[in-house]
Amino acid sequence: MKGIILAGGKGTRLFPLTKSINKHLLPVGREPMIYNPIKQLISADIKDILIITSREDMGDIVNLLGSGKDFSCNFTYKVQEKPKGIADALLLAEDFASGELITVILGDNILTKSIKPFVEKFKKQNEGAKVLLKEVKSPHHFGIASFNNKKLSNIKEKPTQPQSNYAVTGIYMYDCNVFDIIRDTPIGPKGEYEITCINNFYIDKDKLTYDILDCDWTDAGTIKSYRLANNMLYRINNKIIDGDYDENSI
Ligand code: TTP
Repeated sequence: MKGIILAGGKGTRLFPLTKSINKHLLPVGREPMIYNPIKQLISADIKDILIITSREDMGDIVNLLGSGKDFSCNFTYKVQEKPKGIADALLLAEDFASGELITVILGDNILTKSIKPFVEKFKKQNEGAKVLLKEVKSPHHFGIASFNNKKLSNIKEKPTQPQSNYAVTGIYMYDCNVFDIIRDTPIGPKGEYEITCINNFYIDKDKLTYDILDCDWTDAGTIKSYRLANNMLYRINNKIIDGDYDENSI
């Protein structure tokens, strides 16, 4: 299993914080944002990690993270020339993945408990894809899952009439077919390659499983959610909790 962190994009919803700093380098709690997805992958025993970011931000990211020696892992880096979406960035990971299963984390996704149990389940699944869901209060703002007899039947981006309160988080697991699927997917209406199309493709082929997160999760992409992310990680000293979540242990 290999790990991929997507740390490109424009970060416009955090302007002016992100005008001259890559979003994933902003502090969250006591550490730069990107430390959380890195620690997540390492907690799941994934030590080969590709970091994808823009040409402008690559220098700062490499300066911060180096070879991976400080984290006892190996970092590889790739440039996404234009922020053409999550699926476009992921396509750059094909050679790195070299046919193995991959776990992809959007660099602004923050969570408090290890993803290891879900990664282990996906290793056993050994094909198709898996997404991690989280129950949310405002489903209009997220990619939302619909279910048919507990089976995930569709994902809709920011639906006006949400069919559930379960948001698809920015943590995805794929087999190596994902790259062909991205290539066959047309560009979306916003001029970006949409990851939701890729996930819906796996659903249509009956190859997508899901698990539900029982820990705190947020993306840190808006001022409000960035603040929430800070509170979440500050409270637990930026540690990733293994096993059961115990309020008294933090
Ligand atoms: P988004 O939050 O959808 O986009 P963004 O980071 O550009 O922010 P904004 O919408 O405020 O302008 O991206 C989610 C994650 O995916 C984020 O951590 C960065 C990453 N990403 C890429 O790596 N490449 C891309 O082309 C895009 C759009 C996002």
